[in-house]
Amino acid sequence: RVSTMEFHFDVHKIFLEPVTKLDSSLIPPRRPLISSSEAQKQIMTVIDEIGKASAKAQRLPAPITSASRMQINKHHLYILKDCTPETAGRGVVIGFLKVGYKKLFVLDQKGSHIEAEPLCILDFYIHESLQRHGFGKELFNYMLRNEQVEVQHVAIDRPSEKFLSFLRKHYNLRSTIPQVNNFVVFEGFFRDRKASV
Ligand code: ACO
Repeated sequence: RVSTMEFHFDVHKIFLEPVTKLDSSLIPPRRPLISSSEAQKQIMTVIDEIGKASAKAQRLPAPITSASRMQINKHHLYILKDCTPETAGRGVVIGFLKVGYKKLFVLDQKGSHIEAEPLCILDFYIHESLQRHGFGKELFNYMLRNEQVEVQHVAIDRPSEKFLSFLRKHYNLRSTIPQVNNFVVFEGFFRDRKASV
C-alpha cells in the first residue's frame, strides 16, 4: 500500500534524524547521504506531497505548505519520519508541523488591541493512519523545545476541532481570549512573555 506520505526514494538518506527542521534554505541540519542537488529535489517533493495531504485532510481549497512557499517565507518546518525497521530503504513521513513569527494585533482580556509578534502555528498534520498514537505530541513538544517557547505564548491560525482537542488534552489549554482575526490564543498568552513576542 502506497499512501501519500510514502516515497519511492529513501527518505532516510535525506532526513538523518527522527525530526528534521527546515527553513527557507531547505537544507537539513545534517548533511544528506546523497548529492545536495538530488537531496534538494527529493526534499521539495516531500514538502509538496505532505502539504497536499494536509490540505486534503483539512479540506482546504489549496495547500498552505509547499516547497516554493517555504523558500519565500521565514517559516520553520518540522518533519517527523517513521523510524521503524519496516521502512528501511524507502521511508515514510509520519507528519509535519509548520510555524513562523507573525506581527499580529491580539486582543487582550479587556478587548484592547496589543501589537505582538508571536510564534504562530500555521500547519500541522499527522497521517490519518497514525493519528492518536502520540506522534503529534512528540512533534509539537520537539518544536516547543527547539523554538524555546511556552505553549501558552503561541497563536494558532484557524485550529481544527482535532487540534483544539489535542491542545486541551496535552497542554490543558481550554479558555481562549476572543479575537477578531482567524488566530486563536489562550488564557496566559499575555503572561510572562519575552519582550515583543
Ligand atoms: N478526533 C478528535 N480528536 C483527535 C483526533 C480525532 N480524529 N485525532 C487526534 N485528536 C486529538 C485528541 O485530543 C487526542 O486525544 P484522545 O485520543 O484522548 O481523544 C489527541 O489529539 C491525540 O494526541 P496525539 O496522538 O499526540 O495527536 P496526533 O498524532 O493525532 O496529532 C493532529 C494531532 C495533528 C491534530 C492530527 O490529529 C491531525 O493531523 N489531524 C488532521 C489535520 C488537522 O486537523 N490539523 C490541524 C489543523 S489546524 C493548524 O494546523 C493551525
